[in-house]
Amino acid sequence: MSPASRLSVLAFLCVCLVDQGSCRYSSYHRPSFHGQTYTPHNSQYGRPNSGSGPNVEKADSTVILTHVVFRHGNRTAQLSEIYPRDPYYNFDYFPFGRGQLTNVGKMREYNVGRELRTRYDKFLGDDFLSRNPLAGLFPPRSDNVWNTALNWQPVPYNFLPADRDPVLIGLNCPNYVRKYDSVVRSRKWQSEFNKDKNVFAYISKNSGLNVTTYEQIYNLYFGLSTEEEWGHKLPKWTEAVWPKIVTDLAIKHYYVQTSTSQLLSLCEGYHLKKIIEDTKRVVRSASVANGPKMYLYSGHENNVAEMLILLNVFSPPHIPTYGSYLIFEVHNINNVVGIKLYYQRYVTESPVLLKIPACDEFCPLDRFEQLFEEYLPVTEDYCYQN
Ligand SMILES: *[C@@H]1O[C@H](CO)[C@@H](O)[C@H](O)[C@H]1NC(C)=O
Ligand SMILES: *[C@@H]1O[C@H](CO)[C@@H](O)[C@H](O)[C@H]1NC(C)=O
Repeated sequence: MSPASRLSVLAFLCVCLVDQGSCRYSSYHRPSFHGQTYTPHNSQYGRPNSGSGPNVEKADSTVILTHVVFRHGNRTAQLSEIYPRDPYYNFDYFPFGRGQLTNVGKMREYNVGRELRTRYDKFLGDDFLSRNPLAGLFPPRSDNVWNTALNWQPVPYNFLPADRDPVLIGLNCPNYVRKYDSVVRSRKWQSEFNKDKNVFAYISKNSGLNVTTYEQIYNLYFGLSTEEEWGHKLPKWTEAVWPKIVTDLAIKHYYVQTSTSQLLSLCEGYHLKKIIEDTKRVVRSASVANGPKMYLYSGHENNVAEMLILLNVFSPPHIPTYGSYLIFEVHNINNVVGIKLYYQRYVTESPVLLKIPACDEFCPLDRFEQLFEEYLPVTEDYCYQN
């Protein structure tokens, strides 16, 4: 199984928001929007229509551009995550289907949009062309209200297929897959895996999986967590390893996936490069104020985790929860353009300002680029080299 096989089923989209001109980039596989209604009772995510919005801090007035990458909302288990002896192997997750957002998950994403709206309300302003999948971020206002009973407006977007999108799915790059396979076979990782051989054997025996690396446990993590969230009772054997041991080993998989600078550059470098280049282009253009204001990327938890690893701020190691988001906030402070990284993983109300170890919390763009230069792929081709 390729390291990226888990990524192929779930909806995956990337959207950019611009207040002028066309969408510069968007990438998208399968939408998973359903018509069911959501009942807000007992939801940790608040009521969809409570007027005042979430309680998050407002951005500083020096912000000139933002790039946001977030994990999708709660979803159902998908085929690559269930195991041969899974008691719910044939469960169909009606009406959502496998690997699809649940209504709680849709609410989670809606609320990511509302948090961003609250944080950037002033910066984004009221006027916008309708380019937003997140109803929470851009509910129609004034002239854009087309149905008073529905606080929503439609949004167009484009997409790239999964095998041609190194920005969000670098894990599918043929060059990545090849390098990952050889890293997994390396003495270093084989001896790491060997340390956990008893757990591998226990899980293999009970699940019917053939666990030889953290990758299978990583997939299992999502199978067990989504089943549990759905309300399935997990089999007795899982008690010895779930959630602690499985979670810890699943997190280790991120380190295998990013264990060389080449792997990092293939899996997250294209995205970081795009963020840096978009920033430079916008900053250099004569009319920053009329340019794009937000690039919004909807991905998986690994997009968030691997980017945090690349930036050297993945601490403490964790699996980014549903709706987690990382913001590259571009500021102009006394004529210096730089980046502030904010991360929301829902242990605090507002996103937390992160400090890149070798830079300040406000990291000047030149310095930022220099720090991560080695991870920025030089050619598009690098992904496809064999
Ligand atoms: C388990 O996977 C390893 C590595 O891919 C393979 O060598 C081995 O034969 C497999 N074992 C079983 C029982 O399928
Ligand atoms: C949704 O996700 C959150 C955050 O991971 C989790 O705590 C909650 O139990 C999930 N709820 C459902 C119904 O799936």
